[in-house]
Formats: sequence, C-alpha cells, structure tokens
Amino acid sequence: LMRKKLIAGNWKMHGSRVANEILVRSLLAEPALEPSVELVVLVPAPYLAQMQQLLGDSACAWGGQDVSDQERGAFTGEVAASMLREFGCRYTVVGHSERRQRHGETDVQVAAKAQQALSQDLIPILCLGESLEQREAGKTAQVMRHQLGVLLDVLGEAGMVRSVLAYEPVWAIGTGRSATPAQVQEVHAWLRQQCAEVSPGLAENIQILYGGSVKGANAVELMALPDVDGALVGGASLVAQEFLAIARAA
Ligand code: G3H
Repeated sequence: LMRKKLIAGNWKMHGSRVANEILVRSLLAEPALEPSVELVVLVPAPYLAQMQQLLGDSACAWGGQDVSDQERGAFTGEVAASMLREFGCRYTVVGHSERRQRHGETDVQVAAKAQQALSQDLIPILCLGESLEQREAGKTAQVMRHQLGVLLDVLGEAGMVRSVLAYEPVWAIGTGRSATPAQVQEVHAWLRQQCAEVSPGLAENIQILYGGSVKGANAVELMALPDVDGALVGGASLVAQEFLAIARAA
C-alpha cells in the first residue's frame, strides 16, 4: 500500500497562546515519527499565525477547522481559503458534524467549501458520518451515499484525488465511545468501494481517516484496519502524549 497515514488533531474551540505553545513544543520534541506518518494540527483561526511561527518548516503541518464557501466579500465572520493559505495552512476541515448541526451546513455548501479550499491548493478534510438515529434506523448507507455523492458530483475525480475523507459517526464524537473496529472497517471499505466506481486510482490513493473518540488506548486496533489511513482526533489531540501515542500507533 502506498497510502501514508495522516494523524490530524482538531483542537475545536480550545486553546490559548500559552497552552498552544506548550502543546506544540511537546509535539516537536517527539523524535522523528515514521516518515509514512504525517501530523497536522487544526486550530482556531486566530492561532494560525502562532502555528506558522512555531511550526514553520517542521514536519508538523497546520490548518483551519472551516473555510468559507465564498472567495471574498461581505460575509461577516467568515474566513476565506486564501487567508488560510496566507497563514501557511496545508489543510482545512470541511463539513464537520458540529458545523453541519450547529450552523446548518448542507452537503452542497460543504462541497462548495471544499472547492474553495482546492482553489487555493489546500487539502480539504471532508467529514461525513451518520447520527445515532440514522444508524439505528438502518439509514447509514443512505445518508453517507448522499453526503459522498454530492462531493463526488461537485468535486469530480480531479478534486477528490486532492482531498482526504474523514468518517466520523456523530454518536462516537466526544462520547468516549468509539465505533468498533468492525464498524469502522465496514464503512471505510464501503467508502473506498464508492470511490472505486469513480476510478480505481482514486479508491487506491484516497486517505480515509476515522474520527470519534480516538485515543492512545484504542488507536492500535483502529489504525491497523486495512482501509483506515489515519485519524481525526478531537479531545485526545489536546494532550500531547495522547496525540503522540496515536501517531505512534499509525
Ligand atoms: O474532529 C474530531 C472529531 O469530532 C472527534 O472528536 O476525538 O473528541 O471524539 P473526539
């Protein structure tokens, strides 16, 4: 397998200048991880300049947690892809369930955000996943088919090959209750299969991350799954030793 592993820490709305510096310095103090593992921290927009300063040319990348679906203009409070780019971001999260739920982001908007990111050579981390109600109603495949279908339609193969997918079952986020390895592998294999219908090359190359209560203690079994190419980590990414334990497991 040619795919590298990506361990992404989504800090969500946590941090301070002082806490960030301590956390990032601990990450940088880790003796080199496997070259096949990439680390990225996804930070609140006001801290991007701090990341650029602290992480500079290090092996740890940084990125945003959201991006506007517009290029520029009268969109108060939004952050343009060009701005993320200007502060050295390599990645941005797009379509996290917290934004879909709290801000009503639709699949179409999520795809437009991804397009903006791609237009600035940012790698969008495209989040999808079902809620507990949807899973219990047996609608997981239907929901994901729609979420992924819009992305495939709008971004096409050319956009998807420059993106990362992240499967995050909403019921596993911040609950301490990760999906089981069998559940994760089943969905990841299905996602890859859907990508194969677009092109075998896309299926082979696209990184599919798992997110939802990943921590040091469950990372080894999750990262060993054949269709899991890394993790999108929330809570555990705020604790350097936990985040590094996940990276070592990758
Ligand atoms: O983006 C990260 C996910 O929402 C997972 O968060 O690791 O705190 O469950 P969590």
